[in-house]
Amino acid sequence: MFQAPKGTRDILPPESDRWQALVGVFADVFGRAGYGLVQSPMFEDIGVFQRLGEGTEVVRKEMYDFFDKGDRHLALRPEGTAPVVRAFNQHRPTVPWKVWYLTPCFRYEEPQAGRFRQHHQVGAEAIGSADPDLDVEVIALQHDFYRALGLSRLSLRLNSMGSPGDRQAYAERLAAWLGQRVGELDDADRANAADHPLRVLDSKRERTMAVVADAPQITDGLSDDAAAHFERVQAGLDALGVAYEIDPRLVRGLDYYTHSTWEFAAGALTSAQNAVGGGGRYDGLAESLGGKPAPGVGFGAGIERILLAADAEDALTETAGAVDVFVVDVTGGNAGRDLTFELRRHGISADRAFDARSMKAQMKVADRSGARLALLVGDDELESGIVTLRDLRSGEGQSALPRANVINDVAKRLAKESKPE
Ligand code: HAM
Repeated sequence: MFQAPKGTRDILPPESDRWQALVGVFADVFGRAGYGLVQSPMFEDIGVFQRLGEGTEVVRKEMYDFFDKGDRHLALRPEGTAPVVRAFNQHRPTVPWKVWYLTPCFRYEEPQAGRFRQHHQVGAEAIGSADPDLDVEVIALQHDFYRALGLSRLSLRLNSMGSPGDRQAYAERLAAWLGQRVGELDDADRANAADHPLRVLDSKRERTMAVVADAPQITDGLSDDAAAHFERVQAGLDALGVAYEIDPRLVRGLDYYTHSTWEFAAGALTSAQNAVGGGGRYDGLAESLGGKPAPGVGFGAGIERILLAADAEDALTETAGAVDVFVVDVTGGNAGRDLTFELRRHGISADRAFDARSMKAQMKVADRSGARLALLVGDDELESGIVTLRDLRSGEGQSALPRANVINDVAKRLAKESKPE
């Protein structure tokens, strides 16, 4: 028997109900702020991702790439930003172009708690404006999204990578500093010290962390424009009541960031994989993908990790999956088939049993379905033109409804029950 590939998971009901609820909240928060859904291919020319920078582990080591039958070198998307920027370059929409997405991402990582080879992100990108207020908008909306899910134990770390020139100058300064201390670093981080010094800052290895605690900080060397941008972002977050902490060591794993970078971590998650979303500004990315200059800012948030955090906080517990009405028919199936569709076509959620099973067996399925009401059709009902209604939740007695009026009666009953006391 086959199993799902290593590092992947099946998302089945009822877990998928929570998944859908999460995406619904995301679509709502971003839809109300003028962001539209973008759907682009799951695979791209590998060049789209190679431009993310060879200092990026995701690109260097973790890509799912392949040659198709036409010998094109393609890759499954490891992240959502490069495809959106590629689409922006291709279609030249009016700016600022504000979009959101829901996407699987593929990374050949070593699976562990909260880390998968196929994970899923909801994310948003705003392209075509360098206004720091757009950084603020995106961060505050991400914050409001988590809040709307009912998560409260989150912390936000914020940093600035400065302008592309600042970033480059800092990388050189850091490489020189690390060069003096390369012997003190964890073995695994030494190779990066000269060519990818920012990756060393990002290391989670204790020996390295102890060394880089004293490293020069990027925020000390920001150009005036970059410092002003960073200040405007902070003032905006302060005004909107979004709490954050400045962390000059937050460089994040992708190479395209300039100016703002940030990460939300879940306090309720004890594992090392506690980042529930991160993002930043990427002002040079459109150009490096062959387009005209177009600054942009956005974030991605991992659905699996958000749901783990929600579990730990007891949030997002509702299951929307149960239908309102379950139809039980022991007269051969025609009455059940017709009544179920009549209910559905009048907007009432309904399900039924199959395989012409006994009354007892069908009632068991009805109970398990979580439906509020059962409608029963037996030979007596069919003969006298009625349907028997049973309340599955209260277990109270049953009543006979005229078949001709059943839709109205059920709709009234459901409306009455869903009114608050
Ligand atoms: P990222 O930090 O690589 O950024 O991923 C964003 C989020 O996806 C992480 O914070 C985490 O919640 C989740 N995630 C990442 N890798 C895994 C994994 N292997 N298993 C489970 N969850 C994972 C990006 O991908 C950027 N594209 C974000 C961005 C958008 N920056 C600007 N715009």
